[in-house]
Amino acid sequence: MKKSFAVLSVLCLLLVAIAAPVAAADKIVVGFAQIGQESGWRDAETESIQSYAAEHKDTIDLKFSDGQQKQENQINAIKNFIDMGVDVIGVAPVVETGWEAVFTEAKEAGIPIILIDRMADVPEDLYATFIGSDFIEEGKNAAIEMARLLDGKGKIVQLEGTVGASAANDRKTGFEEELKNYPDIEIVASQTGDFTRALGKQVMESFLKTYPDIVGVYGHNDDMVLGAIEAIKEAGLKPSVDIKTVSVDGVKGIFEAMAAGEANVTVECNPLLGPQFFETAFKLAAGEEVDKWIKSEEGIYRQETAAEDLPNRKY
Ligand code: AHR
Repeated sequence: MKKSFAVLSVLCLLLVAIAAPVAAADKIVVGFAQIGQESGWRDAETESIQSYAAEHKDTIDLKFSDGQQKQENQINAIKNFIDMGVDVIGVAPVVETGWEAVFTEAKEAGIPIILIDRMADVPEDLYATFIGSDFIEEGKNAAIEMARLLDGKGKIVQLEGTVGASAANDRKTGFEEELKNYPDIEIVASQTGDFTRALGKQVMESFLKTYPDIVGVYGHNDDMVLGAIEAIKEAGLKPSVDIKTVSVDGVKGIFEAMAAGEANVTVECNPLLGPQFFETAFKLAAGEEVDKWIKSEEGIYRQETAAEDLPNRKY
């Protein structure tokens, strides 16, 4: 009797020992190194990630870091996540270059990296996947829209995103490539507005003084063009009429401006990446293979349908 009790106890202990790691593996610890809060788009992305983690708190432990638009802060956050031993690391790289060393550290620690919304210029084996948009395609679509609005001719200006960011580099490349098909459209000036409304306004003010004959503004994001719209109005001109606008993102603010007849077109870029991010993190934590690029599906929205589209916008 005593012997069978002892065997039973050993069996119970074994079962507990086996069950414990399974229960722990059901909850993953994910570090996310966000860029900052430079735009409405960025806030929507942060919200999507944080709210998904909060809704799934039984299975997700999110460690979130705001890099305040500094690469150094994002690198330090990734180093902390490595020291903590998280299961997966997500990062939206503020700029494309300079990630190789810290991604190598993560790889050596066996922690997969998910690039979310922006690319990093590193060898493919240093990250597991990129979840996000085709920024080159967005730039090309923006150029086609600008050419349509201008009947293929006129002088325009470009408000670029953060210097060195993949979203800025590729939206510029795609736009300028496509514009080669419209030789009568000339970009007379191109300058960074750092993806912020305040700088977008400031740069547009100086463009308007130097180039009074411009008829279009292309912004790498909506926030900068929303700032430019303020500058255009303060200069006594009508945005969307005297100066056509094309920008990228699809935030509510630009839909409101389009519905009010003050902006022309936005090329959508989806920030609601929380669900995809965590689904992918779970797969990676379980050792599964994932696609190298998980591409977002996006549309193009114009002034003509903005009032109708506005109530359906989620960010
Ligand atoms: O990386 C995506 C870009 O970053 C968005 O277009 C811009 O608004 C944001 O800051």
